[in-house]
Amino acid sequence: MIVIREKSAFLIYPNSFLNSLLMCGIVGYTGPREAYPIVINGLKRLEYRGYDSTGVALLNGGLKVYKKKGRVADLENFIIGENLHSNIGIGHTRWATHGEPNDRNAHPHTSASGKLAMIHNGIIENYAQIKKELLNKGYHFTSDTDTEVLLNFIEDIKNNNECNLEEAVRVALKRITGAYCILLIDEDTPDTIIAARKGSPLVIGVGKGEHFLGSDATPMLEYTKEVVYVNDYELAIVKPDELILKNLGNEKITPFVTKLDMELAAIEKGGYDHFMLKEIFEQPSTIYDCLRGRLDAAAGQIKMSGVDNNIEAFKNASRIIIVACGTSWHAGLVAEYVIEELCRIPVEVEYASEFRYRNPIINKGDIILAISQSGETADTLVAIENAKKQGAIIFGIVNVVGSSIARMSDGGAYTHAGPEIGVASTKAFTGQLAVLMMMALQIGKVRGTITNKLFSQLLFELDAVPEKVEALLKNADQLKMIAEKYKDATDALFLGRGYNFPIALEGALKLKEISYIHAEGYPAAEMKHGPIALVTEILPVVFVATKDSYHEKIISNMQEIKARRGKVIAIITEGDEVTPTLADDVFFVPPAHEIMAPLLSCVPLQLLSYYMGVAKGVDVDKPRNLAKSVTVE
Ligand code: M6R
Repeated sequence: MIVIREKSAFLIYPNSFLNSLLMCGIVGYTGPREAYPIVINGLKRLEYRGYDSTGVALLNGGLKVYKKKGRVADLENFIIGENLHSNIGIGHTRWATHGEPNDRNAHPHTSASGKLAMIHNGIIENYAQIKKELLNKGYHFTSDTDTEVLLNFIEDIKNNNECNLEEAVRVALKRITGAYCILLIDEDTPDTIIAARKGSPLVIGVGKGEHFLGSDATPMLEYTKEVVYVNDYELAIVKPDELILKNLGNEKITPFVTKLDMELAAIEKGGYDHFMLKEIFEQPSTIYDCLRGRLDAAAGQIKMSGVDNNIEAFKNASRIIIVACGTSWHAGLVAEYVIEELCRIPVEVEYASEFRYRNPIINKGDIILAISQSGETADTLVAIENAKKQGAIIFGIVNVVGSSIARMSDGGAYTHAGPEIGVASTKAFTGQLAVLMMMALQIGKVRGTITNKLFSQLLFELDAVPEKVEALLKNADQLKMIAEKYKDATDALFLGRGYNFPIALEGALKLKEISYIHAEGYPAAEMKHGPIALVTEILPVVFVATKDSYHEKIISNMQEIKARRGKVIAIITEGDEVTPTLADDVFFVPPAHEIMAPLLSCVPLQLLSYYMGVAKGVDVDKPRNLAKSVTVE
C-alpha cells in the first residue's frame, strides 16, 4: 500500500543522525525508458552537490561502468560512441573527502565478481576493519574508497550466506557504522535497484511502471511529481512497477507519497548565462512567494502557521539561539538585530560548527532557530540534534522541502525560494530574511513589544520589498561596469553598520566564493581598530550605507577611508546627495525603513560579486572547492 500525503510540511519523522556525511549526488532509474539520458541529465542537476568525478553503471548484456574524473560533461565526452542502451541505470557525481578525485576513486564501484555496481553518498567509519577482514579472505581493491569495501562486503555476505542481494545488504548495513545512501544494481536481477539510507538524503520518484531515484527530487521532475522521501534505516527494493520499503529488521513499511509542488522551469536557466544570475533576478518573485498567504498588510496581519503553532513558546521565550552556517548565519545575524529590537527577546547567533562541539548552556524556554537553505548542512543538523536532547524547541527556517533539518524540527517555516542551484546562495538568503522579518513582527505583536503604528508601517514596508528589488535590478548594468573597473583587485573590504553590518559580511563572502578575491567584512566603526591598515589607493572599500539612524556615522567612516585614498564603492539610498561626493562609485537602492534595508542592500552586492566573477572567468555556478550542500563536518 502507498499513502499519499497532499502537502509536505514540517512533519516530525523518526530521523537519526550522523557525525559526518559525504556530499555527492546520486541518481537511479528502472523502467521502460532508456536509462542513460535520465541518469546523465539527473547528474547535471545534482552537480551542485559535488563535481570532482562522475560515473554511471548500466546493464547492457552485462554490467557496464563508465566513470571519469571531472564534471558530467567530461564523462559525456568520454563515452561518446559507446552502446549505452539499458533500461536500468545508476549515476554518481562526487565531492571528494577521502581518496583524491581521480578515475579510480570515481563511483560506481564494481564488486570482485564484476556483477554488482554500487554508488554511495556517505562515509563508512569502520571500513578499515572490514577491509582488513576482506583482505584476509583474498579480496583486492582497486580504489581508496570505503564504498568499494562496503560493496565487496555485501557481495561476500551474498556468496557465503547464499542469500539474495536485498538480504546481503541488510546484513551488511547492520554491521557498519557511519553514513550512507547507497544504490546497487546486480546482473542477476536486471530490473531491480536496491537502495538504502542513513543520514544522506534519498528521494524515490513514483512513475507509471517506472521509478526514479535521486539525492533530491530535481532529476525526476519532468517525469513525476509523486515522490517518497526515504527515512534513515530504510531499505528500498525498486523495480519498474513495484516499490517495497523495509526496515533493517525486514519488516515492510508503507511508503508515503508526497506530491511535489515544483515546476521544471524552476530548475532550468531560463535564458540566463548562469543559475546565479537567474536566481538573483528571481528575487522579486521569490520574496513575493515567501510573503504570499502570510503577510496581509491591508488587514494588518501576519499568519505563519509554524509560528502560530508554537506561539506560547515564542511568547514566553527567555532566549532565542540561532544556529547556521555561511550565508544562513548572516541571515541569523540580521535576525538578531531585528528580533531584539521588535520582540525584546535576547538572541545569540552561533556558528553551528562551534555550537555542536562546545558545551552550550541551554535553558528551559530557549528556542533554537536553525536556518539552512539546503536543510542538509551537517553541522547545523548535529547542532540541533544536540540542542534537542537538552530539551530545546527546534524551529527550522529551511528552503528545501522535506530536507533533514525540516524533518528534525519541531516546527518551522519554509522560505519558498524554489530550487537554488547556484552554489552561492542568493535568493535563499532574501527568503530567509523575509521569513525572519515576518516572524519578528508576528512575535513582537504577540508579546506587545512593538507599537501598532510601527507594526503596520513595517507590514507595508515588507510588502513593498519585491517591487523595490525589481526596481533596483533594472540598474544591474551599473554594477557590471563597477565590477569591470575593480576586477583586478586582489583584496576588498566591506563595511556596514547596524542592520547593514551582516550585509557587509555577506557581501565579502559572496565576493570571495565567486571571484576568488580576498575580502573581509567589518562593522564600519571597527575598521579603525585594524583593517584600516590595509587601505591603499588600490583597495576597493564597499560601504553598505543606506539611509538609517547611523548614516552620519558611516559617512564619517567613509571620510576616513577617503583621507587614506582608498577607493569607495557605496550602496546608498535614492535621494542621498552627500555620499556621491565622497564615493568613487555609487549604486542607489530605493528608500526603505532601516529594518528592511538588508533585503535591498544585499542584492547589489550579489550582482557585484557575480559580475566580478564572470569578468575574471570564474565558473560562478560551481566555484572551486565548494559544494552547494556542505554535508561534511
Ligand atoms: O544550506 P545551508 O544554508 O545550511 O548552507 C550554509 C552554507 O554552506 C552556505 O550558505 C554557503 O556559505 C554558501 N556557499 C554561501 O553562498
